[in-house]
Amino acid sequence: MKNNFKFGVDYYPEHWPEERWEIDAFLMEELGLKVVRMAEFSWHKMEPSEGSYQFDWLEKAVNLLGKHGISTVLGTPSAAPPAWMVRKHPEILPEGPDGIKRGFGGRHHDCQSNEIYRDYIKKMVTQMAQRFKNNPYVVGWQIDNEFGNSHYDLCMCDSCAKSFRVWLKKKYENVDNLNRDWGTCFWSQEYNDFSEVEPPRKTACGANSSQLLDWKRFHSDLICEFSALQSNIIREICPKEHFITHNCMGFSDVVSYYDLSKQLDFVSHDLYPGGYWRGIDTITPAEIGAELDGIRGITGKPYWIMEQQSSITGWETMGRAPKPGQIPLWAVDSIAHGADTVVFFRWRSCSVGTEQYWHGILPHSGIPSRAYEEIKGLIEDMAPVMEEFEGSVPKSKVAIVRSYEQGWAMEVQPNAAKVDYYSQLNAYYKALFDKKISVDFVPETADLSRYKLVIVPLWYLSSDETAKRYEDYVKNGGHIVFTMRAGVKDERNICNTEDPLPGNLSELLGINVVEYDPLNANKIKVEILNGTCGKSGGEEAKAVENFGSKWADVLSLKGAEPIAVYKDEWYSGEAAVSVNDFGKGKAYYVGTEPSEGLMAELAEIWTREASVNTSVSCGIKAEKGLEVAVRETDKKRWYFFLNHTGETKAVTVPPELDLIAGACDGIEVMPYGYAVFEEELSD
Ligand code: GAL
Ligand code: ZN
Repeated sequence: MKNNFKFGVDYYPEHWPEERWEIDAFLMEELGLKVVRMAEFSWHKMEPSEGSYQFDWLEKAVNLLGKHGISTVLGTPSAAPPAWMVRKHPEILPEGPDGIKRGFGGRHHDCQSNEIYRDYIKKMVTQMAQRFKNNPYVVGWQIDNEFGNSHYDLCMCDSCAKSFRVWLKKKYENVDNLNRDWGTCFWSQEYNDFSEVEPPRKTACGANSSQLLDWKRFHSDLICEFSALQSNIIREICPKEHFITHNCMGFSDVVSYYDLSKQLDFVSHDLYPGGYWRGIDTITPAEIGAELDGIRGITGKPYWIMEQQSSITGWETMGRAPKPGQIPLWAVDSIAHGADTVVFFRWRSCSVGTEQYWHGILPHSGIPSRAYEEIKGLIEDMAPVMEEFEGSVPKSKVAIVRSYEQGWAMEVQPNAAKVDYYSQLNAYYKALFDKKISVDFVPETADLSRYKLVIVPLWYLSSDETAKRYEDYVKNGGHIVFTMRAGVKDERNICNTEDPLPGNLSELLGINVVEYDPLNANKIKVEILNGTCGKSGGEEAKAVENFGSKWADVLSLKGAEPIAVYKDEWYSGEAAVSVNDFGKGKAYYVGTEPSEGLMAELAEIWTREASVNTSVSCGIKAEKGLEVAVRETDKKRWYFFLNHTGETKAVTVPPELDLIAGACDGIEVMPYGYAVFEEELSD
């Protein structure tokens, strides 16, 4: 698919009088926008009462924008069922683990398994698709909106209970298998029949960990099914040129994006670096990078940004105002990590409703101001060159395995305070990001052979089959890093009992974990040894302020060499980090969560030993604080310099590279500025 839409905006014409639409379209055109997303929350406008479908207003908006050279992506409105429907069928409201139905008045107040609701959706999507299939300005579809957002509790109503039982029956065939795999002998939880099984509703005390894990798996499948219900209709009715996507949310894990993406043409992402909703000013450049690389990792291909922050964000309270330059910078960040299109959220700050303070390109007054001007500059600068890097991705030599299953299992039982799958992913990513090494996030099933270094954080649920794949990878020369709590459980969420920890990885890693100490809020001093990687072994190095936190595995070395040892506690002197030569490669184990300094030193060892170079070629130098991201094809490579700071940053760029966008004299990049250089690759 050739993509003619490089920049766009999320538009809600229904929030504004029709007389304004023409002005909006004019301003959008002037800005250089080529695509809008509309209608994903407009159910009531499209079906104000049962069966009375009203698409004239939407068609008018689509056609008006179309005349201004702007195409439309239509969102299906299943995230916001209207009040009349809820009144008629209160059972479609979702029910929390407390057994209480969530009320009307927000969004995502829907049960995704409810057949009545599904019927309404099928009818609505069919009507929409019929009406717009031949509209020349409609180019694609977004299914629902941010699956999993506002669904943190996951619906536990009777309908979902019923679907859960069907799912379980398919998985376990008979209830004895379920009893075995859930370990229901504990606390007298045996079931005589599937009909006795319930969602994991709020109990008097505790819950079954295998049931909790299966519940997350079930819900992920349910959401994919709920989405497929809609995407199948669109595929059937609309021309094949219409694409289907969904706006994902980074490392959100309510639904497995690996599974969901199978029904999509490409994935989209919503990027809000302003960290208002996390109670911070902005997320860090490394976190933005991880989020974007995580999205690219879902399919290994470029993506769209369906919502890119365009101004101040906030609901009841607001986050900081983006600094001059920061809005374009964040958009270029999205592109640098693999976005082929950037759609800003939203066109005009809304005067009503929950999101009055989640600002758009235009302020409430509708008069273009700073955000508009900055975005205009960005589009003028970037749109002409974006065709070039369409479809390109970085050719990373390092992969971090991102597994929904591991994340879910760690959510069910974090093992110790603050152990969090996604923080660990981010921590390992950051060490590489700081070294300007590009990273792919990959699923557990990925072909690893093209990577020199693979990091597998918290490989908590293990299987012999996957362990064998990791072993083969190392045998053939790969370098792999496993971390604390590896091999603890099997895929049923039952503790492994056959071997000492790390279970089926013991041979590959050449260690046993003989003791462990859940550190919780405590820290423990850790020292890196001299002559690491087993070459000269043993000798202790200078004391550095490195420490581990959250967890401490005490290692007994069965062939591996120590890289770092603990310097506190009753296990002072025992190995915390190890390396084992295995086949042609090396396998590392990290028994604690390394502090930033320790992580940086370890990353230095791993990348050196695995011969992973910085993704930035030798002639380029970039001062600290300046991110350099790379996209490439066989013929060309692009370097994106992103200055995330308020100071000018120095760079050295060899003269043979061409500046194709942004501003840089080859010596410095302005505060919150960016520069894109192109390199011709000789074969
Ligand atoms: C996104 C969502 C948008 C809007 C925005 C601001 O998560 O997709 O519809 O709500 O956040 O809150
Ligand atoms: Zn439900």
